[in-house]
Amino acid sequence: MTESIVKFRDVHKSFGDVKVLKGIDLDIKPAEKVAVIGPSGSGKTTIIRMLMTLEEPTSGDIIVGDKNLWKMDKNGSMVEANEKHLREVRGDIGMVFQHFNLFPHMTILENCMTAPIHVKKVDKQQARQHSIEMLKKVGLGDKLENYPNQLSGGQKQRVAMARALVMRPKVMLFDEVTSALDPELVGEVLEVIRDIAEEGEMAMILVTHEMDFALDVADKVLFLDQGVIAEQGTPSEVIEHSDNERLQTFLRRFRGMS
Ligand SMILES: Nc1ncnc2c1ncn2[C@@H]1O[C@H](COP(=O)(O)OP(=O)(O)O)[C@@H](O)[C@H]1O
Ligand SMILES: [Mg+2]
Repeated sequence: MTESIVKFRDVHKSFGDVKVLKGIDLDIKPAEKVAVIGPSGSGKTTIIRMLMTLEEPTSGDIIVGDKNLWKMDKNGSMVEANEKHLREVRGDIGMVFQHFNLFPHMTILENCMTAPIHVKKVDKQQARQHSIEMLKKVGLGDKLENYPNQLSGGQKQRVAMARALVMRPKVMLFDEVTSALDPELVGEVLEVIRDIAEEGEMAMILVTHEMDFALDVADKVLFLDQGVIAEQGTPSEVIEHSDNERLQTFLRRFRGMS
């Protein structure tokens, strides 16, 4: 059996007295596409932020590849991770946010080149070539010298994807990347994610409210509810055939909307 690329082992997260995640166990295989659905406040973003090392679990372990995110081996015993360890871990993980977080004073191409050059120490010419390639992949080969404010929301989100891809992550995280977009721009962004997913190499975790998209692209769907994984299975099992009542209620809200 293939070793998992992402593992959560009894992960808990509290903010002050508020228990947000209450024992998450999760295994994601390389190249597996996992959709995470669930009501607002159920802890979806917290899972993503912990994988990005933006939040530390209160207890439990998160392992990406062969690295525990927050612990490292020092002379045979596990100690708290240092900055260098965290930087290495982050190198394997790419993320696209709901709000694009592009650098406004840099061109689209510069937005993509900067992290490979400054974080991964990639040669400038090589970073440029790879960035152009990724921008073409997301359909923006003709916008290289434009600035973010000259682009539509959908185009900005596609730049954000290219920017994550140039880092060659093993795991890509998408947190509701279409929910800040005008409805007519959602399709083009989902299309690009679908293309990336079909290439197949990376594991992907997609927090989404687009149920048709999840049915189509995901290998596995998790329903997160009140800080636990309340249901998981194939997209069809979870979205079409589950008799979990809270999941039914959650899904009905979306059916009513579309
Ligand atoms: N930095 C934080 N400080 C305090 N509470 C937080 C913080 N981040 C998230 N929360 C709380 O954790 C819960 C889960 O949030 P989140 O993971 O964003 O849920 P979702 O993405 O599913 O809507 C919410 O109740 C939210 O208010
Ligand atoms: Mg969220």
